[in-house]
Amino acid sequence: MIEGQWYAPGSGLDEVLPIRQAVLRRGQDATDALAWNVVVRQAGVSCATGRLWWQDGAFWLGEMAVLPEHRHQGLGDLILRLLLFKAQSHAARMIRLECQLGLTGFFARLGFQVEQADASAVTMALPGDRICLDTCQGCRKDCPNRR
Ligand SMILES: CC(C)(COP(=O)(O)OP(=O)(O)OC[C@H]1O[C@@H](n2cnc3c(N)ncnc32)[C@H](O)[C@@H]1OP(=O)(O)O)[C@@H](O)C(=O)NCCC(=O)NCCS
Repeated sequence: MIEGQWYAPGSGLDEVLPIRQAVLRRGQDATDALAWNVVVRQAGVSCATGRLWWQDGAFWLGEMAVLPEHRHQGLGDLILRLLLFKAQSHAARMIRLECQLGLTGFFARLGFQVEQADASAVTMALPGDRICLDTCQGCRKDCPNRR
């Protein structure tokens, strides 16, 4: 079974931080006092996380991490969708994130576009009215859902 759990700012860090530390080599920071964190568990094992917070006129998402042994099963996509659903439920006008250049394709799948880039990081943005959580829209796979 796969389950997701949201944590209000400042809570749930005992479950979030081991995943963040294992994947991103980063621990708690000042943004955790402002951010909603989400954790996904697979068969009871906490294996993926990410967070969402409000700053400078936009919602930001970040610290997305999936434990290596749980990747390529759609859990990163699930975390991203949970974060976007949360932003949407707060009537977000703009959602932004910073990522490495090699990850832009992952976020572009759900509509993020590059807003700014330098050698080390890329800022991507998605207007709230363009959030689309319909799995099938834009997908070119030939699966039974399309027929
Ligand atoms: C990036 C990360 C979260 C993806 O998690 P994941 O669970 O392996 O990804 P998923 O299985 O949900 O992949 C969903 C889709 O995104 C695609 N995808 C995954 N990584 C991608 C990348 N770097 N570039 C483009 N597409 C990517 C997958 O191919 C898959 O596509 P499909 O549905 O057409 O098959 C994970 O690799 C990770 O934790 N990386 C290290 C930490 C990191 O870089 N975090 C981001 C900080 S902003």
